[in-house]
Amino acid sequence: MDIESLAFGAKGVARYEDFVVFVDGALPGQKVLAKIIKKKKNHAEARLQKVIRQSPDYREPVCVHFHECGGCSLQHYQYKKQLKVKEEQVGETLQRLGGLNSFELIPALPSVEIFHYRNKMEFSFARQRWITEAEIAEGIHVEKNGHYLGLHAKGFFEKVIDIQTCHLVKPVVSEILAAVRDIAIDSKLPVYSTRDHEGFWRFLIIRTCHNTDDLMVNVVTSKYDEQIAEKIKSLSSHFPQITSLLYSTTANKASVAFTEQEVLLAGKNTIIEKLGRYQFEISANSFFQTNSKQAERLYDVVLDYADFTGNEIVYDLYCGAGTISLYVSDYAGQVVGFEAIESAVKDAKRNSILNGVRNCEFVLGDLRDQLLDTKDIIARYGKPDVMIIDPPRSGMHPKTVKSILYLQPERIVYVSCNPATLARDLKELAQDYQLIKVQPVDMFPHTAHIEAVAQLTRSING
Ligand SMILES: C[S@@+](CC[C@H](N)C(=O)[O-])C[C@H]1O[C@@H](n2cnc3c(N)ncnc32)[C@H](O)[C@@H]1O
Repeated sequence: MDIESLAFGAKGVARYEDFVVFVDGALPGQKVLAKIIKKKKNHAEARLQKVIRQSPDYREPVCVHFHECGGCSLQHYQYKKQLKVKEEQVGETLQRLGGLNSFELIPALPSVEIFHYRNKMEFSFARQRWITEAEIAEGIHVEKNGHYLGLHAKGFFEKVIDIQTCHLVKPVVSEILAAVRDIAIDSKLPVYSTRDHEGFWRFLIIRTCHNTDDLMVNVVTSKYDEQIAEKIKSLSSHFPQITSLLYSTTANKASVAFTEQEVLLAGKNTIIEKLGRYQFEISANSFFQTNSKQAERLYDVVLDYADFTGNEIVYDLYCGAGTISLYVSDYAGQVVGFEAIESAVKDAKRNSILNGVRNCEFVLGDLRDQLLDTKDIIARYGKPDVMIIDPPRSGMHPKTVKSILYLQPERIVYVSCNPATLARDLKELAQDYQLIKVQPVDMFPHTAHIEAVAQLTRSING
């Protein structure tokens, strides 16, 4: 079948009259042989078997794990084409799901770095590793009780791809990964499994700064072990780049790398990253934009779309560690950030002080509780002139949309990592707001993800 276009989630699309076939991993311009694995009335899902004619936009993937990892599902597609296709997906989603037609769609902003751009990676230990089709063909077997360290293969929680090199992070990250894996193998202590909740080795989290030289390594196990602590400590002599070396434990049964007890083995407890003229202190569990250089570009678009005169009251919803609040603080009268996670609010307050910013305040609370239009908030901060909204993938709760419509800010800048929920929320806001323009921003080259910034202005007289 001939692949005509690319659907959301990096699936190649082939059509037979009204019937659509989605082929995972296939690219526009390719003619492929694919096996149907799921069939519905108007569409089917298919698995790519063979490329019969190559696409002119195909690029040889640089990563040896490309076929099994799934993280960089577009690494084999020319970067300019990746941008174009993501931009079209944003426009098409806003039109189809949001009924939004009369706005300007700006060409997607390319990432400053297209490899090595991620500043954080969480690797998991597993007793089993993913085995490739080529290895199966060669009759290679893998140990069932091994020490593997890498990224989970799509949909498999018991197995990891035993990562040798990940091209989304700086090369030193892969070197530290290999050294930690060796410590685990030497220790002979077992790897933790979410199946029986037994075992020792759990996660490795590495954070690298891109605008400073700071680097944090956090090794996570199920309990503290003095001898292991010594072994981990030796990493700092092999890798002088490490500025924060932590050894953490967690009793959490889920496969989420959130640590409870942290012991500092070398360096400082936190690292400092810079965005624009601002410094941000990041601790082990802090949320921070994963592509630092591109975060600056994203925030510059926010600044542009907010169109400040200098006196505005700004509400920054879902503010995380206050990065956007601080970034725009020089240009506005007052900024109030709202965030549900206590540690993020603490980070935001600490970062305000660190940067000598005096016009930002942060409110801890769940925006689903219709927090914004309470008498207390309005009496304390006043009604907002501009709202910046940067929700999680699920978008806004209907009660939050209702609060915004009640508060009627003059302008809204909506930053979204999910075009579908952006379309849904903008459709609701459309009763009082006009969508002026949308700027897709590529924060995650080679992956199917795309960020978009939307500018809305109030269309009714208040
Ligand atoms: C996409 S992040 C945005 C972070 C920040 N704007 C930045 O650029 O770093 C979304 C944030 O929303 C917060 N959050 C999610 N649901 C929330 C809710 N119901 N109320 C308040 N904050 C929420 C998350 O904790 C997270 O920090």
